Amino acid sequence: MNAAELARPEVRALDAYVPEATRSGVLLDANELPAGIHNRYPDPDARALTAAFARYYGVRPLSVLATRGSDDGIDALSRAFLTPGTDAVLVTPPTFAMFGVFARLQGADVVELPLAAGFAFDRSALAAAWRPGVKLVYICSPNNPTGTVMPLDDIAWLCKTLAGRALVVVDEAYQEFSTQPSAVPLLEAHANLVVLRTLSKAFGLAAIRCGALLAAPEIITLVRRVLPPYLLPAPVVDIAQAALAPAAVAAMQVNADAIRARRQRCAAALMTTPGVAEVVGGEANFVLVRFANAVRAYARLEGAGIRVRRFDGALADWLRITIGTEEEVAGAQAALR
Ligand SMILES: Cc1ncc(COP(=O)(O)O)c(C=O)c1O
Repeated sequence: MNAAELARPEVRALDAYVPEATRSGVLLDANELPAGIHNRYPDPDARALTAAFARYYGVRPLSVLATRGSDDGIDALSRAFLTPGTDAVLVTPPTFAMFGVFARLQGADVVELPLAAGFAFDRSALAAAWRPGVKLVYICSPNNPTGTVMPLDDIAWLCKTLAGRALVVVDEAYQEFSTQPSAVPLLEAHANLVVLRTLSKAFGLAAIRCGALLAAPEIITLVRRVLPPYLLPAPVVDIAQAALAPAAVAAMQVNADAIRARRQRCAAALMTTPGVAEVVGGEANFVLVRFANAVRAYARLEGAGIRVRRFDGALADWLRITIGTEEEVAGAQAALR
């Protein structure tokens, strides 16, 4: 079974609505107003943005689907690949919640394989946890909320091992903060690999809701079918394209590198802070910290007007602290002392 055959039969059979990509002449075909600034529908294929994403990620445009952020990509993958009642996803808690949320919304099951010691990914355990019906295996790398990464060799091995059985979806929302290489170059060799990227994190554009799903062209075609036509608003496309211009990308990377350095300093400082039991520095723009008393640490931070992320269950002793400005991080450290 090739990777596209893993999709829902209804989606594979769908006669998708394909709007005309190029319109010229007197436009009386789409019930738009004849004048205005935003009166015309945008390019349904967002071709200029798709080309900009392709340049930035180093893939062919046919391997790019511009999305309304990674959540949109996860939702679309769920709807394209998961048959309600029979299919499932495999996730590695603690990890990004939306993998499970969108699967459940689709009526699919969520198989959980907790991360190994040190929040590490265990490729053999992942392969062993696969069962018939698991169509999407989510690897969040760097992982939210642990910042831990799966080595590329392990991702390649997992893709090969699960070929014909599942897509391996690598969520690289935090990739620009990481010193580990991206899985994008593996796309050439692995037809069942999907990589999710976003402008929400290192690019500082969470408000515009824009990202990219990268995969083999057959998978892009299938996922596109479950999304509405004219997906991306023209103002979003303009902002995203400006962000992907070479000078803007260079500035983004300088800023991401500065955040990485600040994260390292913050992690080191927290390790000597009273009440801190463990710090996982990770490869993203946050640190995960275990406290002797996380409830009290949270209250201290809250009292100083600082909001961090707390958790239930297995991570009840931990707080996730985003690396903000130098002053914000210093403020959090001071409050904890
Ligand atoms: C791992 C991960 N994936 C995806 C997202 C959502 O990204 P987007 O804003 O592109 O929808 C987040 C946001 O926190 C995230 O942590």
